[in-house]
Formats: sequence, C-alpha cells, structure tokens
Amino acid sequence: MPAPASPRLVALDGLSQIIGEGRMLSDVISDPVWHELTPPERATAQRLMSETLRYLGRADHLLTPNLQRQPPLRVMNLLRMATVEYMTGGAAHGVVNEAVKLAGRNKKTAPMKGLVNAVLRKITSLDATAWEAAPDTMLPKWLRPKLAKAWSKPVVAQIERAHAVPPPVDLSVKLDAAGWAEKLGGTLLSTGSVRLSVRGQLSALPGFDSGDWWVQDAAAALPVQLLGDVAGKRVLDICAAPGGKTMQLAAKGADVTALDISEARMARLIENLERTKLTAKTVVADALTYDDGLFDAILLDAPCSATGTIRRHPDLPYVKTQTGIDELVKLQRALITRALQQLEPHGTLVYCTCSLLREEGEDQMKWLLSQDDDFEIRTADAVGLDPAWISPEGGVRLRPDYWSEAGGMDGFYMARVQRKGKPSPA
Ligand SMILES: C[S@@+](CC[C@H](N)C(=O)[O-])C[C@H]1O[C@@H](n2cnc3c(N)ncnc32)[C@H](O)[C@@H]1O
Repeated sequence: MPAPASPRLVALDGLSQIIGEGRMLSDVISDPVWHELTPPERATAQRLMSETLRYLGRADHLLTPNLQRQPPLRVMNLLRMATVEYMTGGAAHGVVNEAVKLAGRNKKTAPMKGLVNAVLRKITSLDATAWEAAPDTMLPKWLRPKLAKAWSKPVVAQIERAHAVPPPVDLSVKLDAAGWAEKLGGTLLSTGSVRLSVRGQLSALPGFDSGDWWVQDAAAALPVQLLGDVAGKRVLDICAAPGGKTMQLAAKGADVTALDISEARMARLIENLERTKLTAKTVVADALTYDDGLFDAILLDAPCSATGTIRRHPDLPYVKTQTGIDELVKLQRALITRALQQLEPHGTLVYCTCSLLREEGEDQMKWLLSQDDDFEIRTADAVGLDPAWISPEGGVRLRPDYWSEAGGMDGFYMARVQRKGKPSPA
C-alpha cells in the first residue's frame, strides 16, 4: 500500500521532479496527490519546495563537507530540504527525526537512514552565522555569462543576492492606493503599487472579496503606466492572460480588448475580471492573425524566458534552458511587427517582457529601429520613472537588485514606441 501523503513526502517528491526532470513547480502542485493534503499542509509543502530551491546553493555549501560522496538525488534532496527547514526556523530535533522517518519510507533510501541522521545532526549543530556566511545560489550556467556580459560579474552577484530574499507581496489597486496602503498596513511605493509588510492568506484580507486590488509585482505594473491616460481610448492588450495588466487598463477607464492564445489562461483572466468587477472584451486567438481594426494604444507583454521572475519562481533555473530562446526572439519580433500594423497613426505601443536577457529586451528595440524608420522609442519622458532605469536605446531596464533596501522588484524590460514626431501620451 502506498504511504499516506504528508507535506514533507509530497515536497520531496516534487523537488525530485523539478530538479531531476525539469517539471515546473506550478505543474507539480496540480498533481492529484496534492489534493490529499489539507490547505495548510499544501502551503507547508509548497513553502518547503520553494525555499529549498531558493537556498539550494547555501544548503549544498553546508552539506558537502559532511558527505564523502554525493548520495543519490532523492537523499541529497532530502538533506537539502531538512537543512533549509532547520536554517529557516525549524526545530532541530523535529527536522532530524522527520527526515530520518522520510528516508525510511522508501525502499531505496531506507538503507541511508543512518547517513541522513549523522549528517543532519552535524548540520543542526551549526548556528545561523554559518548559514548567513554561505554563498547564494548561483544562476544557471547558461544564464550567468550572458548577464555578466550585459552588466558585469558584481551585478550578477547582486542579482543572486536579490534572488535569495523571499519577495514581498505587491498589489495594484483599483482606486485610492494610499487609502488601501493604510488599511492593509502596507507601503505606497513611488510607482503607485502597494507593498505589503505581512505574509499570509491574501484572500482573507479586506478588499479581496470586493475586488479592490490584485496581486502584481511593482515592476510588472509599470508598462501600463507608460501608456499614459488611456481613459476612453481603444486599447489592445496582446498576450493578456492572466490579466494583471488588463485589469490596470480597465481600471483606468480604457475600452480594452484582451487577447490571448491560451483558452485556459484566458479563463483565469475572466475570473480575475469578475472578482474585480472590471470590464474588457476577451478574445482567444493568435495575435499574429487577429484583426479588429486600429487601436489608440497597444500593450504587448510578449511570451519570454521569464528570467526576471526567478525570485518569485525559484524553480525556473531548473526548468528553463537556453533551448527555445531563439524561437522566442523570433516570435517576439513577429508580434511586434503585427502590433505596429494595428496602431493608429497617433498611437502608442508599449512592448515589455519579464526577462533579464537583452535579446528579449534592449536588442529587440534596436532591431525594430534598424528595420523601420517611421518609429522611435520615447520612454524617458514618462512620469514616475527613475532616470537611472533608462537604457541607451531609450527603453526601461529593471533588475531584481534594484530597490534592494525596500524589498526589490522583478526583472523587466519595457519600451514605449511611437511614430516619429507624434506627441507622447500624458
Ligand atoms: C507574459 S504572459 C502575459 C502576462 C499578462 N500580460 C499579465 O499581465 O497578466 C504571455 C502570454 O502570451 C500568450 N501568448 C503566447 N503566444 C501568443 C500568441 N501568438 N498570440 C496571443 N497570445 C500569445 C501566452 O498564452 C501568455 O498568456
């Protein structure tokens, strides 16, 4: 008979699938076994997986001197998970006992119960300074040199430092962000998002059921601001699901068409609109062939490597590889070309990606300027932007190591494209 599910067992199985098979955490937690857990147990299991992935580099640094050779992956993951659980506040005795029990529950790992016990006793005799001094988890081998070339090795180290800090929860608010910041005990950021200082069940907070706010990283909330005043304007939100930016546009009074190729993701967008009582026309279609006339403003939040969101998704380094980036770059170019064909002569396009890669950001805008003489990039005069964020081709580069004192931000790239000589949107 299979062993009954427990948060640690389910988390260990999930870790092996992410690290060993490159499965995404969001897929892992949809497996039927997760529904055998209660909601608090599910939250515990998910936290154990995410934090183990976030601190894998530190855990390995402490474990390696205590291992004569690397044990099988499942045992290594069990040791990593127990190390992270202890170093992030777990009680030594409980952590060691549970790990030894877990090893005993599997035929292949049972003979290594003694090793698990001995190694974890050593780990739990260390104090917090050893943990603090251990190096941060390094970015994957394919990504590190690219970022070092773009910015320098010290910047890569700063980004890795930022990834080691669990991100805060940011909200976008329909109306009265200052009032909601006060009500929720959060901080109103200079860019207009509300940053919460507490964690917990968000759906239990005031304003969730009434749909007054939604969760959206402060960096992800900026592209819509580059479109200026969109009230009453015809706006196309290309690649819209699950709808964070659609809700911003609708809340600002735009006449929004939200377009996405994925029916399942569009269903989530529709749920989000229903909760926030906001309105948009929703279309499931391929943006490369969709045609519904010209638009005053277009937002293109293109599919990308998502490398800017590693601090929120610490599984990404194990799931994403260099494979597929060239295809994404080609798709982004085709989407930019199609979007510009749908733009009114006075219109504004905002292109953005949650990527740290220049080929999905800065280089795409350089490519556009080299292809088409009619357009220019004019982002610098948008309100609320720190001039230090403006990159040489005129877009905005945001990195996870920015605002590090205040909780950081996701990595993002965004640029405002207009026909030459046309006034910028207010
Ligand atoms: C970065 S996500 C969008 C996030 C969204 N804008 C938000 O703020 O919540 C990219 C989206 O592009 C969609 N997509 C990919 N290829 C597409 C295409 N050819 N046409 C339309 N949508 C596409 C994906 O389904 C995915 O939902």
